[in-house]
Amino acid sequence: MKYENLLITTDKEVAIITINRPTKLNALNKATIEELHHALKDLAKDKKVKVIILTGCGEKAFVAGADISEFANFSEKEGAKLAAKGQKRLFNFIENLSTPVIAAINGFALGGGLELAMACHFRVASHNARMGLPEVSLGVIPGYGGTQRLPQLIGRGRAMEMILTAGMIDAAKALEFGLVNYVVEQEHLMDLCKKFAGKISNNSPVAIGYAIKAINAGFNNSINGFEAEIEAFGSCFGTLDFKEGTTAFLEKRKANFPGA
Ligand code: COA
Repeated sequence: MKYENLLITTDKEVAIITINRPTKLNALNKATIEELHHALKDLAKDKKVKVIILTGCGEKAFVAGADISEFANFSEKEGAKLAAKGQKRLFNFIENLSTPVIAAINGFALGGGLELAMACHFRVASHNARMGLPEVSLGVIPGYGGTQRLPQLIGRGRAMEMILTAGMIDAAKALEFGLVNYVVEQEHLMDLCKKFAGKISNNSPVAIGYAIKAINAGFNNSINGFEAEIEAFGSCFGTLDFKEGTTAFLEKRKANFPGA
């Protein structure tokens, strides 16, 4: 598939998706959301790809939000549909992907941009990154999971402060809050993300998929996380990756996981 708003490159087992609308600070319009869905789906199906890094084009922005020009005239019904579709096609989709997605936050991550980063499995930021959910300043609230994932990541009080003030926090504050795992100079951002991707790639892709599923289960009110862990743990025992991982350990060699 040809993408108008994305650049996709692969480096060994790591795929990099760059949202490419720099003149609009990579704002998420409808087309970009659809393209991201398809790109992520295709990359997740590709067994050679073990990790996906998601970033924004240019030095200024990761993603400066949902494209305000697209929804400014929406009705209540259209607004609800926008949020429901976006959550399903992109934000929940990423969170539940069995291929890990790392957000490389290289500048502004605002509104839908921060929600996108929060849907990723973890986040690394550059020093110039600024993050916020400014929706209430536009008369709306976060609709792509922000009211749920922000308190999960940083706690309810801090999330209330960020959402109700509509303010931005800098990278240092985001690190203190646990919103991002690391902060580095912009020129080192991709290298650090690739370093994590390399470490992840050494492990069993099947076990990684189950680990993501079990971790996410604990944040889903309709699922018992401990039960989900037991089920996923048991499932690992039926995989070729488990046979290879345990055999390699006993034979004192590096595992070569078949990913099945
Ligand atoms: N939706 C649509 N367009 C956006 C956008 C968004 N969320 N964020 C930025 N853009 C566009 C601007 O309209 C501008 O386009 P133009 O050159 O055609 O006028 C371009 O990106 C550059 O943005 P600009 O505002 O000129 O850059 P800046 O450096 O002065 O300010 C921000 C940067 C991020 C502070 C500012 O763009 C901003 O506040 N954006 C909106 C953030 C937001 O509220 N996001 C949540 C949406 S729900």
